[in-house]
Amino acid sequence: MLGSEKAMAKKDLKIAVIGGDGVGPHVTEQALRVLEAVAKMSSVGFVFEFFPFSADEYLRTKRTLTNQDLTRFRKEFDAILFGALGDPRIPDNIHAREILLGLRFELDLYVNFRPVKLLDSKLCPLKNKMENDIRFVIFRENTEGNYRHIGGVVRRETNDEVAIETSVDTYLGVERIVRAACQYAKDKGLRRVCMVDKSNVLRFGHDLWQRVWKKTEQEYVTLEFSHLYVDAAAMEMVRAPEQFDVIVTSNMFGDILSDLGAQLQGGMGMAASINYHPGKAALFEPVHGSAPNLVGKGVANPMASILTAALLLEFFGYQDEAKKVEAAVKAAIQRGVTTPDLGGKTSTEEVATFIVSQLEEISERI
Ligand code: IPM
Ligand code: MN
Repeated sequence: MLGSEKAMAKKDLKIAVIGGDGVGPHVTEQALRVLEAVAKMSSVGFVFEFFPFSADEYLRTKRTLTNQDLTRFRKEFDAILFGALGDPRIPDNIHAREILLGLRFELDLYVNFRPVKLLDSKLCPLKNKMENDIRFVIFRENTEGNYRHIGGVVRRETNDEVAIETSVDTYLGVERIVRAACQYAKDKGLRRVCMVDKSNVLRFGHDLWQRVWKKTEQEYVTLEFSHLYVDAAAMEMVRAPEQFDVIVTSNMFGDILSDLGAQLQGGMGMAASINYHPGKAALFEPVHGSAPNLVGKGVANPMASILTAALLLEFFGYQDEAKKVEAAVKAAIQRGVTTPDLGGKTSTEEVATFIVSQLEEISERI
């Protein structure tokens, strides 16, 4: 649960930092600057340890995640702060999948929490939408569905090729994500929870989602339950996003809808996320990829990464600090201190510098 994983008094949070590839390390560095600024002005402290997982490292060692790494992440760290992985030198991006999906699966980070929050109406591509109209969260199932790499291929690269990719839905997996979404809604005083599936076509896996959904409805009587097929959900997110508070959905659908959601808040440069298993482990990452075409140009938007740092603060119970970071990001947008994706001319680093200075100003005012 967000905000309930309280840090012990005056204990530093130990964070494993994985910058990754492309713009990942650079935007992560900006998020760290913000966290360090927060640490100076509040009771939270951080110890960062850097991990070199990346395409460079993979090409050099041919290794990705080891059991030792996983044990360290489980035992020694409060959280992982992640940048992005993906590199044109590794066309199938096997390292990215092995590392990111490896962490999600092996640490059993079954919640992929992806907020969709419009910080400034001018960033929204939809007509006449105000900040309050776009304010919901997607609970994406993060360990099952089409992502489990179960299937196979025969007669590869012939005209008789057959490829099968199986989707996995388990009772435990569906129930825990549905419950996480409902519990979040209840705890945050949100009313509406919408389950998104394709049960009109996926008669086995998504029928299971339907049954779990109906059962869970009996338990959360104060919530308003609704259901949409994923095609309709995509349309509704564009037509009337104000109807949503919480969306809960499968791995693949959550992946797709969260990119749509990212655009509603200004693009991939604005979308933050948490992968977590309540009480066990959490990995914080911007939704965007490594954007190799932007490397070295200083134009990557650091806000997604900085907003991800705000999610980290909130997750560990530092609500006020998280709000201040968000307010500082908002101030940057309002003043036009943004990278080109948001229409500005400011560099990655200068945007972060402005946000840090705003943060200091906001803290002095309060
Ligand atoms: C995401 C990404 C990943 C996913 C890729 C890189 C495997 O698109 O985090 O949304 O599909 O989950
Ligand atoms: Mn994605």
